[in-house]
Amino acid sequence: MRIGRTLPPAAAPLAWKDILSGIPAFMNGEQALHRFERELKEFFGARHCFLVSSGKTALTLILQGLHKLYPERTEVVIPAYTCYSVPSAVTRAGLKVRPCDIDPETFDYDYSQLPTILSSTGNKKTAAPPLAILAIHLFGIPANVARVQELAEPLNIPVIEDAAQAMGGISRGKKLGTLSDISFFSLGRGKALSTVEGGILLTDRNDLAAEIQKLSKTLPQYTIFEEAALILKSLFLRVFANPALFWLPKSIPALQLGRTLYEPHFKMRQMGGFQAGLAIRWMETLEHFTHVRRRNTAHWFRLFQSNGPVQGGESSHSIEQFNSSLAEGKERYKSPPERGKERFNSPLEGGKGGVQARIHPPCPLQRGTSGGYRQEECFCCDVLLPSCISNSDSESLIRFPVRIPDMEQREAILEASRRRGLGIMPGYPDAVTAIPELETDPTLPVGAARKTSRELITLPTHPYLTEADRHCITQLLSEALEMHTPTQNAHYRTQGADGSGFANDHLS
Ligand SMILES: Cc1ncc(COP(=O)(O)O)c(C=O)c1O
Repeated sequence: MRIGRTLPPAAAPLAWKDILSGIPAFMNGEQALHRFERELKEFFGARHCFLVSSGKTALTLILQGLHKLYPERTEVVIPAYTCYSVPSAVTRAGLKVRPCDIDPETFDYDYSQLPTILSSTGNKKTAAPPLAILAIHLFGIPANVARVQELAEPLNIPVIEDAAQAMGGISRGKKLGTLSDISFFSLGRGKALSTVEGGILLTDRNDLAAEIQKLSKTLPQYTIFEEAALILKSLFLRVFANPALFWLPKSIPALQLGRTLYEPHFKMRQMGGFQAGLAIRWMETLEHFTHVRRRNTAHWFRLFQSNGPVQGGESSHSIEQFNSSLAEGKERYKSPPERGKERFNSPLEGGKGGVQARIHPPCPLQRGTSGGYRQEECFCCDVLLPSCISNSDSESLIRFPVRIPDMEQREAILEASRRRGLGIMPGYPDAVTAIPELETDPTLPVGAARKTSRELITLPTHPYLTEADRHCITQLLSEALEMHTPTQNAHYRTQGADGSGFANDHLS
């Protein structure tokens, strides 16, 4: 068990003053709830807003409302690689998932599969199209909602924008959560903004809003004990989400921190007064957190971005891996000459050394590649970066995803991070088709989703991350890569006393 500074993988720190603001609203929440709802409608320019107990509750209500409008439709199209909360909500709404594989470089749909998946009629009896399709901004990376709409709208399939992980994000000048006429956010604890738990549902559709209005009235309110428990939880989070003490809850297995669970029997409630009171300064908090996450995202991006060849270092292994990933059919990511020989300078290391080319992040900046953007090269693909990215002012991700194709190397990084308390975590454990209760067709081609689940790690970007933390993470990655590269063994660094091959832990 590790005792000492331990970073949570994701966090939206709660402030004492916000918790104090929530307590009076606990007794009489009407005013706080109305105010929060009004501000959200104004901020997102939405016609209707519903406040509930979680993102899953919001999604369930949306799906139940749509099902009232289209009763013959029973299936929901989702990406095969996503948070298990999504299929949990689909099941809770009494519907079935229809997974579509992802593009491993973007986490968005595999658009070579999507048209067939949308147009095939899963419900054999009614020959009905899917009820809806989700466009999910996974980790806060903007999904290509416009492209999904282009395919779904001619078939009269509603597009739900899942902005659970993306509150505060922007794509092509538009706020995430406003790209479709149905969307939702999560206010859970690892999200962009938190009210311990909570969900926001937005829609401009009057027909859907009318159904959701009826459904939300049937949702129970938090009992006084449940709301008191939320206050205690907020105090617990305030104290123990802090890296100085996070080691303690992390060492209690019963808390199941970091576990991804398929759990369709979740509690569904209207949002309580305490949560709305806690959100009293939500706009300034969100702005601040978004700014910090943007800075950290840009930092990680620069670390993995090509800064040109570094003197004296080369890895033929990198070239092989880079080329083999290209050979897997991603023709649009053409290999520039000698790209694989480049190493990546870490700004933290003053341009010396850095992380080698075979870390392969699904480029978070791949999407939104039209007007106003200029082309830049990224080591993992011919990426088009929004020009703001190259000014270190980019996307604001809640975790920064990185692909590590070598299983041994990935496990070594995760293990070292556990020992050093650096908050590097795997992504989701498998494709959603691996959840037996969903009873999806076992022959579905979801290879990219499965591969992603085996390769992905995520780096923290949250406001608790300090410069020293970033340095330690950079050093860990750098060590891990050198360790596994035959040509680099000559430069092998001091081995840890535990024989792990990593330098001694520096954060304990
Ligand atoms: C993509 C996505 N959708 C929906 C949800 C559900 O949100 P909540 O945890 O508030 O129920 C989550 C939560 O992690 C999520 O990541």
